[in-house]
Amino acid sequence: MIRVFENIDICSRNSFKVHQQAAKIIEFDCNSDLTEIFAQHITDKWMVMGGANNILFTCDVKYPIIVPRNEKIEILCENELGVDIRVGAGLEWDELVAWSVERGLWGLENLSLIPGKVGAAPVQNIGAYGAEAKDCITSVEMFFPEQGGFVTLAAEHCGFGYRESVFKHTLKGRVIITAVTFHLSKSAQPKLGYGDVEREVESRGGVSLTNIREAICAIRRTKLPDTAITGNAGSFFKNPIVERNLAEQLIAIYPQMPHYPTADPEKVKLAAGWLIDQCGLKGYSEGNVGVHNRQALVLINTTGNATGNEVITFAKKVQKIVTDKFGIAIEAEVNIL
Ligand code: EPU
Repeated sequence: MIRVFENIDICSRNSFKVHQQAAKIIEFDCNSDLTEIFAQHITDKWMVMGGANNILFTCDVKYPIIVPRNEKIEILCENELGVDIRVGAGLEWDELVAWSVERGLWGLENLSLIPGKVGAAPVQNIGAYGAEAKDCITSVEMFFPEQGGFVTLAAEHCGFGYRESVFKHTLKGRVIITAVTFHLSKSAQPKLGYGDVEREVESRGGVSLTNIREAICAIRRTKLPDTAITGNAGSFFKNPIVERNLAEQLIAIYPQMPHYPTADPEKVKLAAGWLIDQCGLKGYSEGNVGVHNRQALVLINTTGNATGNEVITFAKKVQKIVTDKFGIAIEAEVNIL
């Protein structure tokens, strides 16, 4: 089924809660709806929107916005080792995590409470607490309007990296992700190595899927703003990956600076939140925009009246202050429209 909404304010449909007008929003439930949508509603440009948890709108959207609504979870195959599932792009990500934890299936628990829809998960390869969506994704199904048909891309062809995928590059604006398939494991594979996770899990009675999910939810609730109350898009910036030499010079000056190895031994990942915090910006605000007071990587719509352009002006100021102090450029993780 297709539902069309015309000339509406997208404030309630984007997590930053900025007010902009959308000329047309088209929601669809089934894959077969897409052919009709492209025949009847699309003449030129279009875009896809999930929960808009990672999009900052800076202007009205004059072309159609397509929104997948399929929330179905199908079991494709199951054996004593694990389960393969196909999940509709429109399902809320955390509902999938809750579903997997309830069934004793391992793999997604560290990604508890990440806002957004399943269809957005492969786009930026969502990650948290030592896990990434790519660890469980086996393929991504999509509609490819240029070809007029559906394509399934195996995970190894999705170009997954740290907050990266082909969907942000060669396939950007060219496909509509309709479903994602995952492999989840029946044997315990706890990932407790990140930050406070192990301590929080122990305090709940030790390793179990439920305890890991509860621990991660508790950590996230203490550090990240509640989108239902305060507009934000999670981490506004990516953690910068820098040359090992530069990281070593900085560690000599700031021995407490968090740093993480990457797949490339010559590159080191730094914590943008720590860099912003060290600039004294945590909790700082100007006008309607601020740096969250418990996690400096998150920019917030402090008054509810921020415009996308105000957020960008503020973000540029934060980037400049960090570059002036540390000589490091931090890039936006959020998609700016
Ligand atoms: N830090 C500070 N001050 C801050 C924020 C962080 O000193 O204001 C320090 C922390 O103490 C820690 C380090 O920086 O030593 C890293 O902080 P944290 O563990 O909070 O994680 P992060 O690197 O800032 C990333 C993800 C988050 C994810 C967490 C946990 C990115 C861009 N962000 O943040 O993802 O929840 O790790 O795994 O990679 C998101 O993408 O929206 C998001 C919230």
